[in-house]
Amino acid sequence: MRKNILVARRAPAAVIEQLSAQFDVDAVQGETVLTPDELRARLQGKAGAYITGSERITADLLDACPELRVVSTMSVGYNHIDLAACTARRVLVTNTPDVLTETTADFGFALLMATARRMSEGERLLRDGQWKRWSWDYLAGSDIHGATLGILGMGRIGQAIARRGHLGFGMKVIYHNRSRLPADIEGQLGARYVSKDELLREADHLILVLPYSAEAHHCIAAGEIALMKPTATLVNIARGGVVDEDALAAALREHRIAAAGLDVFEGEPKVNPALLTLPNVVLTPHIASATMPTRLAMAQLAADNLVAALTGTVPPTPLNP
Ligand code: DGY
Repeated sequence: MRKNILVARRAPAAVIEQLSAQFDVDAVQGETVLTPDELRARLQGKAGAYITGSERITADLLDACPELRVVSTMSVGYNHIDLAACTARRVLVTNTPDVLTETTADFGFALLMATARRMSEGERLLRDGQWKRWSWDYLAGSDIHGATLGILGMGRIGQAIARRGHLGFGMKVIYHNRSRLPADIEGQLGARYVSKDELLREADHLILVLPYSAEAHHCIAAGEIALMKPTATLVNIARGGVVDEDALAAALREHRIAAAGLDVFEGEPKVNPALLTLPNVVLTPHIASATMPTRLAMAQLAADNLVAALTGTVPPTPLNP
């Protein structure tokens, strides 16, 4: 008998075609984002769920949908899924690592550069007709080449950013992570392991790439920001919840750090109004992995994971095998 699955967000046509060849597919149309109640209703009788970071999978939801066996998320992050609850109920969860690493690292570096070199601020002034003349210190930012790049979270994406900083821009790379990298990898990346406090104190540009968890919640708050250089920039491509946005906005307003670049927000798609009015922050709408080839690769991997898991083979990238 064909299994029923839910594709909870609009997905590429090729993915829907592939899934429809094997399963009875209930595919959400248009740009609809299901509410938790709608998600629960649409998952009734479904063996598989193809989701994104916008759909939350909680223990309550799993209990209300006992036929659900596989959750495939088209994202590397999985903080929207209660993994322990899934494992306890033998629900297999998969995500989409690796295929987005380089694209996300490119974006992290671009955001760092735009932030340090005040690109958005300059463009806003120019478009508003505020660019009156050249002067020696007009929109003077900070250098990237030769500066100290601090990386909090040294997984695949953190390492790809370190490589760009070290090999491309001659930066001194320091990092903090739950575990230290092997010496040969540190050597290849030119990266030095430091404590979190040292990272905050020494970085000229600090980039957050750590996975979000209860432990990581607001791990950059007023106390941490107080350790940073007044000339430092902070870039967040991890999850909004790792930064206390009110504390960050206050620090930016009072020039206790120079600038921030944020691609993720605690209440996204809503953005903390305190950030919206500040000139020294670059804001982007959670697009670090958004190139067409990478998004198609993520969508395909999520489909392959779902097909494999529901047809009794080992999926390419399981989280709780
Ligand atoms: C991810 O893959 O986790 C990105 O943040 C997109 O959601």
